[in-house]
Amino acid sequence: MKLKNKNVMVTGGAGFIGSHLVDRIARENPANLIVVDSFFLGNEENLIEARKTFPGLKLYRMDASNLAAMLQLVISEKIEVVFDLAVIPLPTSLDFPTWTIETNIGIASTFCELARRGHIQTLVHCSSSEAYGSAVHVPMNEDHPLVPCTPYAASKAACDHIVLSYRETYNIDAVVVRPFNNFGPRQNPGSYAGIIPIVVRRVLNKTPIEIFDDGEQTRDFIFVRDTVEAMVRIYEEEKTRGQVINISSGVETSMNTLVSQLTAVMHTPDHPVFHSAPRPGDVRRHCGDVTRLKELTGFEPRTISVETLIETAEWYRSVMQP
Ligand SMILES: NC(=O)c1ccc[n+]([C@@H]2O[C@H](COP(=O)([O-])OP(=O)(O)OC[C@H]3O[C@@H](n4cnc5c(N)ncnc54)[C@H](O)[C@@H]3O)[C@@H](O)[C@H]2O)c1
Repeated sequence: MKLKNKNVMVTGGAGFIGSHLVDRIARENPANLIVVDSFFLGNEENLIEARKTFPGLKLYRMDASNLAAMLQLVISEKIEVVFDLAVIPLPTSLDFPTWTIETNIGIASTFCELARRGHIQTLVHCSSSEAYGSAVHVPMNEDHPLVPCTPYAASKAACDHIVLSYRETYNIDAVVVRPFNNFGPRQNPGSYAGIIPIVVRRVLNKTPIEIFDDGEQTRDFIFVRDTVEAMVRIYEEEKTRGQVINISSGVETSMNTLVSQLTAVMHTPDHPVFHSAPRPGDVRRHCGDVTRLKELTGFEPRTISVETLIETAEWYRSVMQP
């Protein structure tokens, strides 16, 4: 299956991963490419590149959890394929758990419902490795228990169950993709920032870098352009339907290692670091088993490299005021 000549919608398409996915889909020559984003986070500037490739790109500032509004939109735009990436992020869930849960579940169930009623053909729903919680065994394959540690993670796990239940009950054409920790240009550098933007900001501001806990907690870092490549290939391969598929590198990197690699590429290897108390809900170990993705699509994401770290740090340097 190809995206060429298809009418495609990306929810959360003005966000970090979503905007890279829009760039990638734009190159496939779809008939119509629609972004739905509430701008809870996200940034219209993230779509500049995609608009160069696909000038007809349409952006709707809408709430993807609003079933009636989404129904109208998918009918009027004749949407066939939805990549569902819209999300209220983890840090927000710590302050507003109920709202985060309701919104995230509302988004996923909206598109399940549109698929069930036959208004869209295919749903590629984006999960998160957070749904697993801390690793019980490493590498974590898709059968690893789901023990979410935060309301965000619980909402992501719930969404996956909803999508799979609609597949089971109504045979909707759907797949759940489960990325591990992404890095790269456009990851929100403001409030709710991830580890890499926080470290870059501290280096630029010449303030000490805070590492929670002992810094030996690990993540499986993948470059965002690899993640979206995997998503497109998963869409293209019909054998993926009804499955959960990790998008990971299979390589575990500790926070201490990440910080030293990042400060090295920023030419500040001796930048001061201090350790503080563990964050609530922080998972201890994460490392994904990528066998299923490799077997189904032949694609394998890479972990951190000097080149991708430099590209990422340079992007933050260009958008951050020290
Ligand atoms: N960043 C990561 O490392 C990572 C890892 C695993 C999974 N994921 C998943 O990838 C997807 C994208 O995450 P991201 O990191 O790009 O986050 P992001 O916050 O950059 O993007 C999410 C986008 O969704 C939008 N949004 C929020 N609520 C909305 C709503 N009700 N209606 C429409 N749009 C709404 C936001 O404005 C934002 O632009 C999410 O499903 C997330 O759970 C991310």
